[in-house]
Amino acid sequence: MWGMIGTWRMSLEGITKASLQLNQGISSADAVEIAIKKVEDFPFFKSVGYGGLPNELMEVELDAAFMDGDNFDIGAVGGITDFANPIAIARSLSQYPVNNFLTGVGAERYASQMGFERKTMLTERAKIHYHNRLFDDKQQELKPYIGHDTVGVVGLDQAGKLVAGTSSSGLFMKKKGRLGDSPIIGSGLYADSEIGAATATGLGEDLMKGVISYEIVRLMESGLSPQAACETAVNKTMQKLTPKRQKVGDLSVVAMDKSGNWGAATNIDNFSIVVATSNLSPTVFLVNKINGGHCQIEPASAEWLDEYMKSRTAPLERKGNLNEFN
Ligand code: GLY
Repeated sequence: MWGMIGTWRMSLEGITKASLQLNQGISSADAVEIAIKKVEDFPFFKSVGYGGLPNELMEVELDAAFMDGDNFDIGAVGGITDFANPIAIARSLSQYPVNNFLTGVGAERYASQMGFERKTMLTERAKIHYHNRLFDDKQQELKPYIGHDTVGVVGLDQAGKLVAGTSSSGLFMKKKGRLGDSPIIGSGLYADSEIGAATATGLGEDLMKGVISYEIVRLMESGLSPQAACETAVNKTMQKLTPKRQKVGDLSVVAMDKSGNWGAATNIDNFSIVVATSNLSPTVFLVNKINGGHCQIEPASAEWLDEYMKSRTAPLERKGNLNEFN
């Protein structure tokens, strides 16, 4: 038995590539890195890696983390700039007993010393998004924080090892130095090969309040299925936060247990996920907003899949002249 589950349709190509190799016996650590690198390298996904949207200073600051559920090795980078594959750097940091989570210049120094590939991660398309956001803000006073689609992947290999990984450019227009949940073990991801693993996407500030990935693994330990654990964790976080804070940000999660059973839950419409197991070829599902404590999950239609890639790769026009507002 082997399996993979990932957040968002963007993980399809990576999970397809990695699951072929999982089937041939590679480790889930390698599979998770392969799957996430593929997302980091694709310029049209605007919330991860190359082409990720920048912070308020138009710098692409990237977060990533890796956790091995056999031995609890953890590695993470936060706010790293101009390296091609933050997930590989995070994984590399997981080999040490200490200094596992490096941020900013410290992470860049380590990556440089270790010979990781340098790359300018800000694309021309991301610059247009940045310009257009400033233009829209001036015109409509939009709040800057939208678009926070972390890729999170869980892998289970034939030896029973569970691994979780994440990679994200974080919130568009975030403050320089802001970290979300993605590099935070327990919030963005958690893996325990004796139980299961989980990963999250959405508004980091609210996902952290529920330490949601750890919570899902603990719920699975108490006997819940991955689906029930995901739904319970999202519901519980909503119920805790709503009366205290009125507004709760996006919370979307996926999980897999040590037997390859999987689940997902969300408080938004149409959260897309990708699943591949020894019994299921890579498939995109849509998860609907939690209702009555449960989420409906259906395979994405061919039309939905077609529209997804068309909209991601459509030509992007630069809007009007910002100077007219000065
Ligand atoms: N979930 C990604 C972030 O908040 O940065």
